[in-house]
Amino acid sequence: MFRKKSSAFALFVCLSAASMTSAAAQSTPFTQEAKQKAEAILKQMTLDEKVGQLNQAAGIVMPGIANKKPDELITQGKVGSILWLNDVKEINRLQHIAMEKSRLHIPILFGFDVIHGYRTVFPVPLAMASSWDPSVEEQAQHLAAQDARAAGIEWTFTPMVDIARDARWGRIVEGAGEDPFLGSAMARAQVRGFQGANLGPDRVLVCVKHFAGYGAADGGRDYDSSYIPEELMQNVYLLPFHAAEEAGAGSFMSAYMDLNDVPASGNHWLLTDVLRKEWGFQGLVLSDAFAVGNLKTHGYARDPEDAAYKAIIAGVNMDMASLTYTHNLAKLVTDGKVSESYLDEMVLPILEAKYDLGLFEHPYVDESKVDSVLNRPEGLALERKLAARSMVLLRNENNALPLSKGLKKVAVIGPLADSGQDIEGGWTVEGLFGNGSKSRPVTVYTGIKNKLGPAAHVTLVTGPEPSRVYPGLLDRLSGKKPTPPPTAEETANWIAKAKAAAAEADLVVAVMGEMANMSSEAASRATLDLPGIQEPMLEAVVATGKPVVLVLENGRPLDIRWAAQHVPAILEAWYPGTQGGDAVADVLFGDVNSGGKLPLSWPRVAGAEPLYYNHNLTHEPEDRLNFTSRYWDINSKPLYPFGYGLSYTTFKFTNLRLSKRSMGTGDVNEASVDVTNTGSVPGDAVAQLYIHQRHGSASRPVRQLEGFERVTLQPGETKTLKFPLTKNELQFWNPQTKQWGVEPTEFDVWAGDDSTAILHDEFTVIKP
Ligand code: BGC
Repeated sequence: MFRKKSSAFALFVCLSAASMTSAAAQSTPFTQEAKQKAEAILKQMTLDEKVGQLNQAAGIVMPGIANKKPDELITQGKVGSILWLNDVKEINRLQHIAMEKSRLHIPILFGFDVIHGYRTVFPVPLAMASSWDPSVEEQAQHLAAQDARAAGIEWTFTPMVDIARDARWGRIVEGAGEDPFLGSAMARAQVRGFQGANLGPDRVLVCVKHFAGYGAADGGRDYDSSYIPEELMQNVYLLPFHAAEEAGAGSFMSAYMDLNDVPASGNHWLLTDVLRKEWGFQGLVLSDAFAVGNLKTHGYARDPEDAAYKAIIAGVNMDMASLTYTHNLAKLVTDGKVSESYLDEMVLPILEAKYDLGLFEHPYVDESKVDSVLNRPEGLALERKLAARSMVLLRNENNALPLSKGLKKVAVIGPLADSGQDIEGGWTVEGLFGNGSKSRPVTVYTGIKNKLGPAAHVTLVTGPEPSRVYPGLLDRLSGKKPTPPPTAEETANWIAKAKAAAAEADLVVAVMGEMANMSSEAASRATLDLPGIQEPMLEAVVATGKPVVLVLENGRPLDIRWAAQHVPAILEAWYPGTQGGDAVADVLFGDVNSGGKLPLSWPRVAGAEPLYYNHNLTHEPEDRLNFTSRYWDINSKPLYPFGYGLSYTTFKFTNLRLSKRSMGTGDVNEASVDVTNTGSVPGDAVAQLYIHQRHGSASRPVRQLEGFERVTLQPGETKTLKFPLTKNELQFWNPQTKQWGVEPTEFDVWAGDDSTAILHDEFTVIKP
């Protein structure tokens, strides 16, 4: 069972904003010992050396961005951290310069985006959230932390906890979807996975990003402004950040975009008032890449000096890659605009992190051990297990799945069917910046061959990559030109090949979706269709009359309205990682019973975005009277609701009960529900508990998730699951009083296996 943050709370009538602030827990992610050591070394540092600690330098040569290696800066003590470097030899070389040639021998903190694994690439975060099992994230990130440390990376720019309500936004793939309760559970699990109970030489410092509101970009266009009223920030967008902070996250990353017209990387309200004063955060804030320098681009800073001033005063400790602090901070201090004691406060947590991570004692990587750690077979076995646990069965008409292992002729079709690069998704450490991935990903084509063995005949027809309007970031860096769209003749040829293969086969597995680079940063889409020639290819294959299974590899929900009516079985695999193809085969052939659930509402079309289940009801629902609250031309409900996912067995939810019909604001009201496996095979159910506040001093969502648990049940087995309803679950931030609290009013409760659950009860909260 997973609970929401335990933030300060009270009845609205009796808590002032000031006492709310003072109630913040003064926990520190770093130890007292590290603090003392950091204070001692800080006393010996010159102004330039202090400013140096606040510089995170780009460790690679990026044309037009950083064109020289940072050796000289390191010798002068002007580099606190380095990012985008995963060459172990180079990491050691630079660390030797810091340890041997810089005056105070302060080690460099090496950071990289270890988002979902290092060489063993785990499912993308959106997939791991689909497991509705935080231990999936924790196990994956624990292994990723060991791998990263073995390879010299001590700081990861993970977890991304941005709530995403709009699938056009490409970075939806990096987070846990639309819900703050699920997102908070996944955020905590990632912090635990990377940092453990304490930082140490086998742990990795997390960086919770992108603080905050980045997922609400206008039109889903990455980097665009977000306009989010404070009540929505408090009740939705900030919750997973606060959960990560309370779990002990040592660092946060400030976002790129304007939040309500104030850039997040120069936003004092976010970085100081909320994060430090209200929540009591004592770790460090890193800007997103070049975001400090870009304060000028926003029209917020006059020039780089003003940008450095605005960022540091807002609360950004470290400047990622822009060198704006390096060139301007010392002058701001000598001019008296920034006090040296404030600068000291900004430097301190960086040094503390370095001490707690054990960098002063163990600054170097053992190059001889890197490959043996990164290639551990247990990593691959874990990956396969977690990948299968993260998939969502969207459709299974007439028990089309699981498939028989006696199949003799299978055609595997689609541009993603045998693409190792795509099955791992974006943000792979070794794939980034052209170093070349050393993992050997298993594609769906290979996974099916592995499962059926040599006796079966498995054919492959791929297809052209969808074309794009602009080259991607990595394509631009490597000078690769965008792929031109196929000609009409080429399209016809591909479709003919796919039809011929289908005609020869007993069954078709279509592997379709998006290339990995169509998701993630700077990869927003205006449509959600199956790109390129995939839709006509799928329709042509289905028209052959052969049974077809659609496996989706994608980083966002897609417009699959046609498939959802005409393809009997659809498995959402997301980007399942290195062992993805074997994991897909495990689910398709029933060795694993699919138990994942959607962490988002699946839209029918892009025009329905933003779409989220926890919206307010401000008019009659569309199925009553004629006054519809949504669209005229399309069913406004999602194609698949939040929390939805099928299984090869069936479950029944009964006997929802509450321990109290009427509760005081400080009471615990326990909701319990019985879940029974009513089918004939073992399977995983995800029990979900939703609440609704009927009336009060603000409109509240029609439903909000306040409890969930994934359980395995044998056929005929029943388990009783319990979910506490306390102030943590019932409170909200009130836009009228600007405070957190629980209202004395009436509540609905539902339990079931998705957000449309109908099993219902109700209770009242009374004033004590
Ligand atoms: C992204 C961050 C990432 C950083 C470092 C930025 O462009 O927005 O999410 O952590 O680069 O790679």
